[in-house]
Amino acid sequence: MEKVQLRNGVLIPSVGLGTWRITDREQLLETVDSAYQCGYRLFDTAMAYTNEMAFGRAVRELKLPREELFIQDKLWRTCYGYAEAQEACKRSLKKLKTDYLDAYLIHWPVPAKQCGNYRELNAETWRGLEQLYREGCVRAIGVCNFKQHHLEELSETASVLPFMNQVECHPGMWNPELTAYCKERGIQLEAGSPLGNGQLLSDERLCLMAEKKGVTAAQLCLKWALQHGYVVLPKTTNKERMRENIETKHFELSRDEMLILDGLPFLGGLGLDSDEVNNFEGF
Ligand code: A2P
Repeated sequence: MEKVQLRNGVLIPSVGLGTWRITDREQLLETVDSAYQCGYRLFDTAMAYTNEMAFGRAVRELKLPREELFIQDKLWRTCYGYAEAQEACKRSLKKLKTDYLDAYLIHWPVPAKQCGNYRELNAETWRGLEQLYREGCVRAIGVCNFKQHHLEELSETASVLPFMNQVECHPGMWNPELTAYCKERGIQLEAGSPLGNGQLLSDERLCLMAEKKGVTAAQLCLKWALQHGYVVLPKTTNKERMRENIETKHFELSRDEMLILDGLPFLGGLGLDSDEVNNFEGF
């Protein structure tokens, strides 16, 4: 499994397994087992996915070596604030039955439209994550769904810039300006929902292009994001698909192919804007 080095030297696998909506204990156990066998070491969970406890149990029951895993978790919106963020992380550690997280992320920025002091609350929450990082509870701290203005605002008060920013990213939905901004500052980008929640995979253009290259539409989407420098987090409970999603080393996308995919209109996915969204579900 290829790895990418974060600014602080920590290595993160370039492909990980998304676990959103996998809440059933037995199904999660089987999923983690299959993923580990296929070579996955990065697992992306979140407080809002309500599967931390089942995930922790799966790792323990399967006797997976903790040091081999990269466990990434996220702080939910009910836990904004300096003390609250730290308490939330400690609760998550207990649920996951681990002493440390490899990465801990703010799941969503505080919504500006609902909260007048959203900047202060983002800054305070981040200060809580910095404290967790200093204490060694987490090996890296980051954010999700942060737009450029959120990152700029955060950098006014932060001692440590986020090591990663996880955003929805797939053909039809990507932000070249944000990508460049993060790359310049050493903020690793992660593609959440890199298959547009599966909705992209029946698109005729993508299927045709994939067929011509002898790959699947899923592999095409993932390779595109990888070539843009993203860590990708496809979700599946199916072992064959896990294999397919991790095997993208045998082909490259040409400059022209990349440009075609860069230019596609929105084809599906969540398509949320963190300044506009107010109906959070836990994604
Ligand atoms: P399933 O879990 O039944 O395999 P995303 O990662 O963008 O959120 O997309 C996840 C969705 O895509 C899930 O519905 C998942 O279904 C489906 N999926 C994941 N990998 C593949 C694949 N290689 N081929 C087809 N569908 C896939």
